Amino acid sequence: MSPEFALMPEQASSVSAEYDALLFTEIGISVFFGVGICLAIMFLAWRYRAGSEVDRSDPPEGDMRLELLWSGIPLVIALGLFVWSAKLFITMRTAPKNAMELHVIGKQWMWKIQHPGGKREINELHVPVGKDIKLVMSSEDVIHDFFIPAFRVKMDVLPGRYSMLWFKPIREGTYRFFCAEYCGTSHSKMIGRVVVQSPADYASWLSGGGNNEPPEVAGKALFESFRCGTCHREGLTGRGPVLDGLFGKQVRLAGGGMVVADENYLRESILDPGGKIVEGYQKLMPTYRGQIGEEGLMQLIAYLKSIAPDGKQPEEKR
Ligand code: CUA
Repeated sequence: MSPEFALMPEQASSVSAEYDALLFTEIGISVFFGVGICLAIMFLAWRYRAGSEVDRSDPPEGDMRLELLWSGIPLVIALGLFVWSAKLFITMRTAPKNAMELHVIGKQWMWKIQHPGGKREINELHVPVGKDIKLVMSSEDVIHDFFIPAFRVKMDVLPGRYSMLWFKPIREGTYRFFCAEYCGTSHSKMIGRVVVQSPADYASWLSGGGNNEPPEVAGKALFESFRCGTCHREGLTGRGPVLDGLFGKQVRLAGGGMVVADENYLRESILDPGGKIVEGYQKLMPTYRGQIGEEGLMQLIAYLKSIAPDGKQPEEKR
């Protein structure tokens, strides 16, 4: 069955299977007693309805054994569920000591992630399979919530403090994560994917995007790692203007007026995206001020200058 239509998300972390077992045990017990009690009520209401021919002499006054039984059984079940869930809760809230630590920052409306070596990514989370991963999370604005259904983990991400989440992916593959706290207009777009890779693939992914490259190549890597294309590529979300072949062109602005898409315009649009909104678009893009240094800006602009209307760099066409 395709994952989009599965009843439950895949069991892709070390706690997923036990989490589901606990959930289904609780549902099973609730259904068993709920349905059983309903059926008993309906049966007795029917049997002792007015005018029915049943023996009503000598009704029972009470039965201590029965009282003990129906108090004792739920007590044992409830305590059993408590011990089981408390044990699982403690496991899920206590990160292993040697866990790999990643930083996650939520902001309206994107997720920024940084790996131990300094590598960053946006709305994507690459992790090696079989490793304990700890996320240290904070928000730049309002309350968000980091939720990976396949891992059965979910935690609020708060401004002004760190919250923590850990998991151990047990299966390679791509899973989805969501913001699970309503945080404004584009809350529903605050989503991404977790890419669980073999340790070797993860290492090579980490080492990708070095520094000794022509500025437009480094800029392309920045463009991709900042996920600019999520909004600024043709045929995708259409949230932002397409940038292919933009450099040097005239741009019509919302509220009238024209501007030439030169270096200063691109620079302003990265650092202060609300300053000049292109006609037909909304102020959605967050500022990258403080996230990208002078060198990065220069590389990004070099890349934007190099892309032709078809989105290819000159050397890709050869
Ligand atoms: Cu962030 Cu909802």
